[in-house]
Amino acid sequence: MSRETTFTLNGQPVTVDHPEEATLLEVLRDRLGLTGTKNGCDEGQCGSCTVIMDGRVARACLIKMPRVSGTAVTTVEGLDAAEQQVMVRAFGETGAVQCGFCTPGIVMATKVLLDHNPQPTREEAAAAIQGNVCRCTGYTKILDGIDRASALRRGEEPRPYRPQAGPLGLVGAPLVRPDAADKVLGGAKYAGDMTAPGMLTGAVLRSRYPRARVLAIDTARAKALPGVEAVLTAADIPGRRFHGLIDHDWPVLVAVGEETRYVGDAVALVVAADPRTANQALDAITVEYEVLAPLTSPTAALAEGAPQLHPHAPGNLLAEHRIDRGDTQSALARCAHTVTHTYTTPFIEHAFLEPEAALAVPADGGLTVYCSDQSVFHSRDAIAAMLNLPPEKVRVLSQMMGGGFGGKEDLNCQHYAALLAWHTRRPVRITLTRKESLLVHPKRHAFEVTMTTGCDAEGRLLALEAEIIGDSGAYASVGTAVMQRGCVHASGPYAIENVKVRARGVYTNNVPAGAFRGFGVNQVAFACETNLDLLAEKVGISPWEIRWRNAVDAGMPVSTGQIMPKGTGFRDTLLAVRAIYEQHPRAGIACAIKNTGIGCGLPDAGRVRLQVNGGRITIFCGGVCMGQGLESALRQITAQCLGLPVDRFDVVLADTDTCPDSGVTTASRMTVFGGEAARLAARKLLSTALALGKPLPMALADLEGQSFLGEFLPVTDPLTSDKPNPTTHVNYGFATQVVCLDERGKVERVVAAHDVGKAINRMNLEGQIEGAVAMGLGYAFTEEYALEGGYPLNTTFVSLGLWRAREMPQVDVILIEKGMDSPAFGAKGIGEIASIPTAPAAAAAYRRLDGRLRLSLPLADTAYRRPRRPVAR
Ligand code: FES
Repeated sequence: MSRETTFTLNGQPVTVDHPEEATLLEVLRDRLGLTGTKNGCDEGQCGSCTVIMDGRVARACLIKMPRVSGTAVTTVEGLDAAEQQVMVRAFGETGAVQCGFCTPGIVMATKVLLDHNPQPTREEAAAAIQGNVCRCTGYTKILDGIDRASALRRGEEPRPYRPQAGPLGLVGAPLVRPDAADKVLGGAKYAGDMTAPGMLTGAVLRSRYPRARVLAIDTARAKALPGVEAVLTAADIPGRRFHGLIDHDWPVLVAVGEETRYVGDAVALVVAADPRTANQALDAITVEYEVLAPLTSPTAALAEGAPQLHPHAPGNLLAEHRIDRGDTQSALARCAHTVTHTYTTPFIEHAFLEPEAALAVPADGGLTVYCSDQSVFHSRDAIAAMLNLPPEKVRVLSQMMGGGFGGKEDLNCQHYAALLAWHTRRPVRITLTRKESLLVHPKRHAFEVTMTTGCDAEGRLLALEAEIIGDSGAYASVGTAVMQRGCVHASGPYAIENVKVRARGVYTNNVPAGAFRGFGVNQVAFACETNLDLLAEKVGISPWEIRWRNAVDAGMPVSTGQIMPKGTGFRDTLLAVRAIYEQHPRAGIACAIKNTGIGCGLPDAGRVRLQVNGGRITIFCGGVCMGQGLESALRQITAQCLGLPVDRFDVVLADTDTCPDSGVTTASRMTVFGGEAARLAARKLLSTALALGKPLPMALADLEGQSFLGEFLPVTDPLTSDKPNPTTHVNYGFATQVVCLDERGKVERVVAAHDVGKAINRMNLEGQIEGAVAMGLGYAFTEEYALEGGYPLNTTFVSLGLWRAREMPQVDVILIEKGMDSPAFGAKGIGEIASIPTAPAAAAAYRRLDGRLRLSLPLADTAYRRPRRPVAR
């Protein structure tokens, strides 16, 4: 049944026809095309859909249309020109915008705040946006933005937040990101905002059980529903049915006769005229299962006689990696002190604000797929293989991405949209609900780490042994690489001659685990750093001192034997925080090392093409900006190399037809790999211009239509290399963080000192660190993605334990720049490392507070630990 509602929208009266049960959010987005109001959870828990209703903040997803009748609603599109200018400047100039998915909602909350309280305190500003989750920024720069908006509205021209960039966008300048205005004003298009004429809605039927044999699927009733265009099962897949970033073990759809491996497994697809009909069709499908007992822990999966979940993995072992340098047994025998403990860490959900979405449009005998995707070339190849098409028949474009953090590397729903569009020859859009998103995509691995660390009487580390078991869940994803990274980094940023580590990833019937900011290093760092504190206590030296005595430095090897280069700044990070740490009675300290790039002997290319047209230069790169600021970095590096202003450049990212393949946006690699490729391309362009005898920009007219490809193709060695000093990774970042608690046990300050090599965009880089620290604090105290019997307990956004604005402490970022000229002006990856030392530093701070040793995350019995919410299945 439909009905009409009349109300005032952005100052104009409107009457809209809508389904009886429609929410204001549905009407705004689907009926009126006002997609600046975002749908992050559809349950009023994330704040992305914040609008103003009769002068007050309102969550559009919670408001049924009858309540809207006669009210005045303002969306981000309805801000007047002066307010738009204020918000764009305030949020852009302070670096408050990263992925931007949360931004329109926060802008609207800010407007209501400032309308009622023109000069709020920082605490009042934090309270005003407490209902708005931002997973990217850590809120520091958002609060800076609100402060700046307040000043601008009051007619003050605030002092520049930072030294302004000159007309040349020199490397290091805090340039405002080019997409800031679009994101602030809601004009930025994410995959779920995309439409196409004649578009249908797709939906996915998931398995009812974590492990069950599918005996029959009856789709007849669903197919008969009016408005349903098609219902597909595994039999309808024309090509390769299994996908995966490394191992092809993940079925697009589980076939009759096969076992499901987790509750996110897809069993059938429907496509219908609208979302309501699609959901009715899902309910009309009948699946007959033979329910089987799930394997819900690595211990159970490794046990003798356990059922084998994948034909290629006897004993359910996905991966096993080892490092074996020196002789740990005899070294441990020589140690004055040893510490052995077993640590456990939980699955963690990425909680990117933008749920996965994709629109597939048939085109020229193939498909164009718009999606939210960290890995467009992999997706193109996987979709083409699934449809039995040559790759050039499939074009994948990642749209504006509302956060990823590793959780959008695997196929999520772009293959389903593609399959349905291929069958119906109509455009098909799929948008996962938040509940579905939480259920489906791979999480951070739960680890169990048993670690022994030994040192001499002076605290010099002599040996480290570790046994690591990771729960990889139902499918491989990048689990084998995660275990490899955990193996390499288990000994932290310390020079230890004798290291023996074994890391195993195990298949279970839990939700798959895969890439997540830190990639296996967060887990092992908790063990390594805590053991180090315990050794310091035995030796009788401070936690800072034991780190200083063992810090790896230029010319020294890390655990694989790789020699650290002269730009290594780990010791500088320690020195930077020493006084702060030593003067605070409840401070904890921890350090981290994190690779940049995939390394380990695998192909790891960065590619950029520069194209000259009309006196401008377009930078094409296959990498993705998921909020980290890749566009800014590429523009600044290219501008620096060519001596041209940044506004002469356009950037096209993540389009498989026009951009060169620059690999997956993962492993903190894109600024370095894309940036170095941009530098190499710029050098080619420059030398061609010089050969013409003309300087830039004059030479651009002669270069019209030409393009210049830069390829960065570093060679690394596999983990199994027998070289004494292999190059395992291109480079490494280092960090030391200090977490300071108040007397109640609340975090009052985090100091994050990072060896970044070279800051390409100082403001964006700080934002990456602040956001990662917020995630690290969640990892330490409140976050957990828990499962019971293979079923997730966390099925809502609010249950994840994410940190909000009022909880965030002061975060002080200290940047150490000791980089060299290359690659990418000496930049080191920053995307992941800042999330690594926070949790062990927090654990150490708590131990100073109450004397208790905690061996599990999230830390128990703190001022933060929330009781787990019972969740309905
Ligand atoms: Fe806030 Fe990404 S910028 S969620």
